[in-house]
Amino acid sequence: MYKVGIITSSDKGSRGEREDKGGPKIQEIVGRFADDYEVADYIMLPDDRYKLADAMVDMADNKGIDLIITTGGTGFSKRDVTPEATLDVIERRTPGISEAMRSISLEITMRAMLSRAESGIRGDTLIVNLPGSPKAIEEVLGPILPSLKHGLDILQGRDAECARK
Ligand code: MTE
Repeated sequence: MYKVGIITSSDKGSRGEREDKGGPKIQEIVGRFADDYEVADYIMLPDDRYKLADAMVDMADNKGIDLIITTGGTGFSKRDVTPEATLDVIERRTPGISEAMRSISLEITMRAMLSRAESGIRGDTLIVNLPGSPKAIEEVLGPILPSLKHGLDILQGRDAECARK
């Protein structure tokens, strides 16, 4: 069972001016994969590169979170800094995950090209950025979660075999 930590990046959400719909949507979708994942932590932060980076480090290094899923702050607004915070803390990029999400998303909307989402590995933890809209989360998270489990199995030494299932 892998522990999932959710970070919502939203200035308005963190000020209580907008209901967070992304975090609960991630919780709902992770709940569909209850054999493999459980949500163990969930926080909402403003679009602040350093606060986001600190929260990712805390979840990965202190809280034993295996998979950090962020939502929001991947677009072109000057306040959108989640990918930069992610790159600040990861040790190895995992571009295939972000490419797969954009590939799935481009089948649905060309605006998927506007998400600068990153992903990568810090220690035993995988960090994946998702866009902010619940619609985008619904479109990408379910399809990628099974393969992320295999990645975590390999990362944490629980599975050495890559034979296709
Ligand atoms: N991906 C999917 N699957 N579906 C979407 O509707 N919206 C795009 C993109 N990725 C979208 C998507 C849009 S309109 C934007 S601006 C970017 O994600 C960035 O979103 P964010 O700033 O909320 O992270």
